[in-house]
Amino acid sequence: MSLITNLTRMWLTRSVKPFIFKNEYDEVLPFADCEGLGLYVHIPFCRSICSFCPYCKVLFSQEACQRYVDSLLKEIRMTGSRLTEKKKVTSLYFGGGTPVLAAPCLNEIIDTIKRYFIITEGIGIELHPDDVTPSALRMLKSAGITKISIGIQSFAKKYQAVLGRKPVRAAALAEVLSQAPFETVSMDFIFALPSQTFEDLKADIDAAFQNGANHIAIYPFIDFSFTSSKVPVMGKKEKRRLLDQITAYCMKKGYSRTSIWTFSSQPEARYSSMTRDNFLGFGCSATTLLKNQFKINTFSVEESCARKPSLRKSDCKKRAFTSCFACVRKPVATASFKR
Ligand SMILES: C[S@@+](CC[C@H](N)C(=O)[O-])C[C@H]1O[C@@H](n2cnc3c(N)ncnc32)[C@H](O)[C@@H]1O
Ligand code: SF4
Repeated sequence: MSLITNLTRMWLTRSVKPFIFKNEYDEVLPFADCEGLGLYVHIPFCRSICSFCPYCKVLFSQEACQRYVDSLLKEIRMTGSRLTEKKKVTSLYFGGGTPVLAAPCLNEIIDTIKRYFIITEGIGIELHPDDVTPSALRMLKSAGITKISIGIQSFAKKYQAVLGRKPVRAAALAEVLSQAPFETVSMDFIFALPSQTFEDLKADIDAAFQNGANHIAIYPFIDFSFTSSKVPVMGKKEKRRLLDQITAYCMKKGYSRTSIWTFSSQPEARYSSMTRDNFLGFGCSATTLLKNQFKINTFSVEESCARKPSLRKSDCKKRAFTSCFACVRKPVATASFKR
């Protein structure tokens, strides 16, 4: 297992022990008394699919998105209704996919969550650069979103071409961002692309902080074997050297390191759905970390939508319904570990 995979696992579980995957799950999720709980909602739709991307996503259609949101709302209600009183949670993050494609339903999703949870530290959403428009940002602000994270990948045309993405114009982005301030404006970059140098990355970091970001996430390129990516992979040592150079540069500039890959220029700027003790995930592929459990929801968007919660488990076994209440939250895997 690579160093990066090991670090990510330890970061997720806060344990050096390995995962033990079991094909089982608890019907009742023990989140009611979890301190520092964060919420995550996955919206798996994109306008086009990037070959390098490992996330759970499908091409957007209005009809599929509406069906997905309907099932998501059921899942939120089903989980929330187990609480006897409203529960305080730190944050709510929308990830994807491209969650803004569900924009007409964002208010309804947030309102449904707020029926059960009190969000104390704000709401975040991931944006594709194409979504950074004055009207979209106004809509997000009016829905109560306080943090945005924009998937830049690189400001250099050359590396956007390597990834098969369109160029992003920093100045145009800055102009739009200046019209709608958010507490956190994070920009995502991918490093360790073929022949990429520290000078290239320094230019990206500077361009981000000069054009409206107060936080950056700079991830090493990972060639996930199940994607169709043809991007050549940089050697481990070279990757490590780049990360060390990025870190030293950000420290010299006075930015604080907020996780392995993230840096912020202002103390209040934070963007992470996972660097917390406990989190509850809704929607396909969403993960849940609670006490000694790590759960992953199904990766099938279709299966996620098709499940119709019934009231009794026995009905499900008799196939009277597509699945029962418990099955709706059935993860593809459960990992147990001791902290
Ligand atoms: C869900 S996407 C961001 C939002 C939006 N869908 C977009 O593409 O702009 C999350 C981020 O994961 C990172 N990412 C995706 N695939 C990656 C890979 N193979 N290796 C490293 N980082 C990757 C990218 O930086 C991307 O912005
Ligand atoms: S990188 Fe973003 S836009 Fe591209 S497929 Fe992944 S989630 Fe969709």
